Amino acid sequence: MGECKDLEDDLANLARLAAADSCEDTRLLLAKLVRKYRQGRPELASRLDQSLKTTQTRSAGSSVLRRGVSVSDDREILLPVDGDSRLPLIRVFDDREGLAAPILPVGVGDAIRAIIHERQESERLAARGISPTRSAILVGPPGVGKTLSARWIAQSLGKPLWVLDLTAVMSSLLGKTGNNLRMALDHAKKHAAVLLLDEIDAIAKRRSDESDIGELKRLVTVMLQEVDQWPDSGLLLAATNHPELVDPALWRRFDLVVKFDAPDAKSIAVAIERFLGEDRGLFQPWIDVLAAGFQGQSLSDVERSINALRRGYTLEVAPVERLISSVLGQNQEMLSKAERLHLAIELAKAGQHTHVQISQMTGVARDTIRKHAGPSPRKGRGLK
Ligand SMILES: Nc1ncnc2c1ncn2[C@@H]1O[C@H](COP(=O)(O)OP(=O)(O)OP(=O)(O)O)[C@@H](O)[C@H]1O
Ligand SMILES: [Mg+2]
Repeated sequence: MGECKDLEDDLANLARLAAADSCEDTRLLLAKLVRKYRQGRPELASRLDQSLKTTQTRSAGSSVLRRGVSVSDDREILLPVDGDSRLPLIRVFDDREGLAAPILPVGVGDAIRAIIHERQESERLAARGISPTRSAILVGPPGVGKTLSARWIAQSLGKPLWVLDLTAVMSSLLGKTGNNLRMALDHAKKHAAVLLLDEIDAIAKRRSDESDIGELKRLVTVMLQEVDQWPDSGLLLAATNHPELVDPALWRRFDLVVKFDAPDAKSIAVAIERFLGEDRGLFQPWIDVLAAGFQGQSLSDVERSINALRRGYTLEVAPVERLISSVLGQNQEMLSKAERLHLAIELAKAGQHTHVQISQMTGVARDTIRKHAGPSPRKGRGLK
């Protein structure tokens, strides 16, 4: 009787934790119950142990492996692991509805939208015997939104993004890397996943590279076959900022190459507004100045500068003009002559600095500033 009550209590506790979606606590309780029932009810203990091994462990945005098996967030799919390190070969990013669309120049944005649209209309295409884009390689400098776009594509298709974890794939014993890669890719194919091979250059080095050893060559061979045979049901994405390192034979096999460039002026202005968030109104008079000063930077860098600005402003580290001068100052050397002139004119229009100060900040001669922006205000307020 007492044992029955005990079991009832344990079941009720387990149900409560599971219903509250309290994964970590559920796992802890399961582990406790396995220990408790190992002697008296070995069969039950073994069944509980089995469940414990297949419960997921959550972390921000991605599911992580514990105890040999990993389960992707909401699809109850076991993810393959490296046989030696037990690390998962695939990481899962599940953005649900949380991700805003990447800010992209028209051509790049069109290409990304086309990938999504073809998938959404795949039945119409199939009816006429046409495949949607099965594989695409995203290429461009760091911090311009390649990984973000892959996440956006997956989210738009209502799927999590699976990312091949190259460290786990390659950290295994020499000779096993090829197996790992094949296992991970097979798994993605089987589950019609959106799979991203991020920083593909790490694997896909040119086969002719002097430093290539047999192992890398085998990896490239595996990749070549896999990209060729990728099914219509799945979507294979790859990203690199070292296109010159990617084997041309592999390059050719992707259905689509999407070239990302450094963001254009319009994208930078839109990004500044987005990254300013609820402080947008406060910084409105400075947006053109900031947009001019951030020319040539990646949106990842712009985001970092804007975050620094917002932190400085909130904590009242310095007057706003000084904070602006400081974030712009960090980028001066990267600006071309024309961009510095543009920045100087925008600063003059903002009316917070004298021409002397603007000239010091931008390296543009005072006469030139006056010629384009009219006379200097009598007293600047910027550099106190
Ligand atoms: N086009 C963009 N639109 C909106 N935000 C962006 C964009 N590009 C970069 N960002 C911001 O910068 C962060 C980093 O971008 P992301 O990781 O996509 O760059 P990447 O092109 O993959 O760079 P890397 O080649 O270094 O991997 C994003 O999470 C986002 O916050
Ligand atoms: Mg990336």
